[in-house]
Amino acid sequence: MTIKLKKQVIEILEVLKKKNTELLASELANDLDIDYIVLMAAVNDLIEENLGGFREEDVNQIVLNEEGNHYLEKGLPERQLLKILLDSNIKEINIEDLQVKSKLEKQIFYVGLANMKKNRWVAQSKASGENKIFLVLEEFPETEIEKFLLKFKKKSTMNYSTLSKKEIEYLDLLNKRKLIVKEKKTHRIIFLTNKGKSIKKSDIEEFEQVSKITPEMLSAGTWKNYNLKPFDITKPGPSLKAGKTHPLINLINKIREIFISMGFTEIRGPIVESAFFNFDALFQPQDHPARELQDTFYLNNPKVARLPDRDRVMAVKATHENGGDSGSLGWRYKWSESIAKQIVLRTHTTSTTMRRLAQFYKDNDKTPIKVFCIDRVFRNEKLDKSHLAEFTQVEGIVIDENVNLSDLIGLLSEFYRKMGFKKIVTRPGFFPYTEPSMEVSVYYDKLGEWLEMGGSGIFRPEVTSPWGIKNPTRVLAWGQGLERIAMPYYGRKDIRDLYINPIKWLRQQPY
Ligand code: PHE
Repeated sequence: MTIKLKKQVIEILEVLKKKNTELLASELANDLDIDYIVLMAAVNDLIEENLGGFREEDVNQIVLNEEGNHYLEKGLPERQLLKILLDSNIKEINIEDLQVKSKLEKQIFYVGLANMKKNRWVAQSKASGENKIFLVLEEFPETEIEKFLLKFKKKSTMNYSTLSKKEIEYLDLLNKRKLIVKEKKTHRIIFLTNKGKSIKKSDIEEFEQVSKITPEMLSAGTWKNYNLKPFDITKPGPSLKAGKTHPLINLINKIREIFISMGFTEIRGPIVESAFFNFDALFQPQDHPARELQDTFYLNNPKVARLPDRDRVMAVKATHENGGDSGSLGWRYKWSESIAKQIVLRTHTTSTTMRRLAQFYKDNDKTPIKVFCIDRVFRNEKLDKSHLAEFTQVEGIVIDENVNLSDLIGLLSEFYRKMGFKKIVTRPGFFPYTEPSMEVSVYYDKLGEWLEMGGSGIFRPEVTSPWGIKNPTRVLAWGQGLERIAMPYYGRKDIRDLYINPIKWLRQQPY
C-alpha cells in the first residue's frame, strides 16, 4: 500500500533518511529554509503515518557574548597584535610602543601579549635594557582555539552535548577568557521510526492537499478539484491560558444575581467601622466576649469614630441600660460612649446592615426594604485550613410589616435552592441581636453531607426600636461566610486555596 504525503513532508523525510541521524528541528528548518511551524506541521504528518516523531530535550547552548563576537570578526587580541607586526614588517618592538600602536585597551593588550608568548610566536627579552618582544617564527597558522572560535561563523549557537572532548577543552579556554555565555533551551529533536527509515520511494505517493478554501476557489468552482484536508473534530483544541475572572468573583456574581432576582438591592458599608455599628447597635453588651481583642482588630488610627445623630446614640444607650422604648429591661449596666467610639475592622457585614437601619430611620423609608451585602470582614483568627483572618460575608435583610419566622425560612429555602441546595434545615441558634435565632444547614448532594451555612433570625426589638422599627414591622436577617460556600462549591478542602490561588486549579476553571 502506498502512503500519501505532501511534497514538503516527502522532502523532510528524504533529508532525514539521507543524514541518517536525528536532527534538531531548528537546524532542519534552517537547512530547508522553511518556517519552524511549517516544519513541525510536516513532522506531525510523519507522526500520523508512524514514519517519524520528535522528542524534547533540555540542552545547554553556547553562544558568543559581545566581546566574543567582536573577536570572531576582528580576530583574537594576539592575532590582532601579530597582524600589526606582520603588516609593518616589524621583527622586534618595545612592548610599550606596541601597545600604543595597537590602540588596544591595556588589559586586552596584555591578554594578547600573553597569548602570543604562549603560542610561541614571540619571545620577550630585557637584555637590551628595553622590554622587547621578538618574532621567532615565519608562519603563524590558526591555533586550535582560533579554529574553534571560527566555528561560530557557521553556526551562531553550539550544542554542548554534541561537542567532543577536545572541543570542550577549547570551549573551556573561551570560557576562561569570558567570551561565551551558556543558555539552557528546550530543543525538539526529530527522528525517523524504523518504518520511516525503511520506507521505499515507490511506497510513497505525492499529493497536494489544501486546508483552506479561498473565495477564489469558491467563485471559480475549482474547490471541488482540490484535495481537502479532513478535520479531526475529536482532537482537543489548544488549551488557552488567558486571564479569567477569579472563581470567588464568579461565585459572588452568582449570589448577587440570586439576590437581585429575589428583589433585593445591594448595599455597601465601610470596612473601618465604629464599635457602635459593629456591636452596640446590635445590642451586644460592652463586656461581650466577642469584642475582646483576640477576635476583633481594633485600630489606633483614626482614634475615634463619628457616631450618628445624638438622639439615636442616646436611644441605643437606653436599650443597653434599661431597654429604652423596646419593652425590654436592657442589660442594666452603665453604657460608655467612648467604648462605642472605638474603631474596628468590621467583624461582620451586620454592621453595614445596621447602617441601613439607621438610614431607614433618617429617610423615613417605606417598607418593604430588601437589601443584601457581600463584602469583606476581618477577625483575628489563627489561619488554618478552615479559618481565614480576612474573609467575605453574604448577608440579606428584609424589613417589612407582619413578617415572621415562616417568611424567613421561606426566604432561606428560596435563596439556598437558587444556590443549588435543595434541602435545608434550621435549628435553634443564638446571636445577641436576633430572637428567635436559627442556624442554617444545607444538604450537599455531591458530598452527601449536611453543611453548616450560617446564622439567621429576627432582629430583637432592642436592635430595631432605636431606628423606629417596631412591631408589627420586623427585620428578618441572615448571614454567612462566602468562603464556606465556595469550598464545597469548588471542591477545595483548604480555605486558604481561595486566596493562595493554586495555578493548576485556576487553569481548570471555566471562562
Ligand atoms: N452576623 C452573623 C455572623 O457573623 C450572621 C448573622 C447575620 C446572624 C444576621 C443572624 C442574622 O455570623
